[in-house]
Amino acid sequence: MAKLFTPLRIRDLEIRNRVFMAPMCQYSAIEGVPNSWHQVHLASRAVGGVGLVIVEATGVSPEGRISDHCLGLYNQQQEEAFKPIVEIVKRNGAKIAVQLAHSGRKGVGSFDVVAPSSIPFDSSYKMPKTLSKKEIEEVVESYFKAAKRALNAGFDVVEIHMAHGYLLHQFLSPYSNKRTDDFGSSLINRMRLPLMVAKVIRDFWPQNLPVFVRLSATDWIGKEGWDLEEVVLFVKELKNIGVDFIDVSSGGNVADVKIPIGPNYQVFFAEEIRKKAEILTGAVGLITESIQAEKILVEGKADAILLGRVLLRDPYWAINAAQQLGNEKIFPKQYERAY
Ligand SMILES: Cc1cc2nc3c(=O)[nH]c(=O)nc-3n(C[C@H](O)[C@H](O)[C@H](O)COP(=O)(O)O)c2cc1C
Repeated sequence: MAKLFTPLRIRDLEIRNRVFMAPMCQYSAIEGVPNSWHQVHLASRAVGGVGLVIVEATGVSPEGRISDHCLGLYNQQQEEAFKPIVEIVKRNGAKIAVQLAHSGRKGVGSFDVVAPSSIPFDSSYKMPKTLSKKEIEEVVESYFKAAKRALNAGFDVVEIHMAHGYLLHQFLSPYSNKRTDDFGSSLINRMRLPLMVAKVIRDFWPQNLPVFVRLSATDWIGKEGWDLEEVVLFVKELKNIGVDFIDVSSGGNVADVKIPIGPNYQVFFAEEIRKKAEILTGAVGLITESIQAEKILVEGKADAILLGRVLLRDPYWAINAAQQLGNEKIFPKQYERAY
C-alpha cells in the first residue's frame, strides 16, 4: 500500500490517509459567517478522498480577519453556521480542522489593524497600532474563545496560524517585532505570545484530539528575519506544550522578498523540523503529482502532504492518486460505475 494512503493516527484521531487539504481563503463570507459556498467547496474535497480538510484562515476577532469577506469564529451565528459544514465533511470520511488566525498588520478590511510594532507591511498597507500588554492578553483570550466555539462546532483539529506574516508570525520575527518589553527583542520574548496562544488552546482542547501549528520556516532574509535555527527552538517549545503537528510553510512577512519557488521548495524545512525537533510535520508548496507526494513520505521528509492549488483544480486528486499509486479504490460507492 502506498504510504500516502496509510492512515495517520495523532492522539486518538485516525485520519484515513496523508493527503491534507491546505487552508485556502475563499473571500466568500459575509460578516465572517460560512455559507453554502464553503459547504460545497469543503465537502467536495472530502468526497474527493482527502484525509483532512483544513478550513481557511478564520479570524478570532473581527479585526483578526484578513479581509471583510474572510471567515470568523467569534460569535454564535458563525459557530452555528459551521456545524452543518463540519458534519457533512465528517460524513464523507474526512476529518476537519479550522485554521484559527489573526491577521495583525496584514488585515485589509474595513477595520483598524494592530501589530507588535507600528510598522506597516509595506506602503500600500495600513499603519498598525502597537498592541498594549492588555490588548495582547485580549488576543490570547480571543483565541481561547474561538477554540471553544470550534469544539462546539464539532471540529476535530485546531490549526493555529503562525505563518505568512500574520500576527503571531509578526511577533516571532525580529523583522516585524521591534518591541523592547517582555514581548520583543530576545527569542524568549518574541515567542511569548505565540506560546501563550498555543498553551491556552492545548490546555483546553480535548486530550484525545490534536493541535496543529502552521509556521513559516523562514522569512527568506537570513538572520535579519525569522529563520530555521530559531524555528527549531520554537518548535521544541511547542512540542513541550503538547502541539502535535507542524504544517511547514514559509515567507509572507517581508514584502517583495525573493523566494526560490519550484516543486518541493519548502520540503527541506519540513524535513529539518521533523528531524531536529522530533515532531510530526506536513510538507506543502508545489506538490502536485502522486509520485512526488509519495516519495516525500517514503524518504521520511514529512508525515503528511498538504495540497493547495492542485486541489482547487481537481477535487478528486486523492482518488486519482490512489489509483495511480496502487489501484486502491477510495472513491465513494456512489461513483463506482465510473471506475
Ligand atoms: C487561494 C489561496 C488561499 C490561501 N489561503 C491561505 C490561508 O487561508 N491560510 C494559509 O495558511 N495559507 C493559505 N494559502 C496558502 C496555501 O495553504 C498553500 O500553502 C500554498 O498555496 C502552497 O501550496 P500549493 O503550491 O499546493 O498551492 C492560500 C493559497 C491560495 C492559492
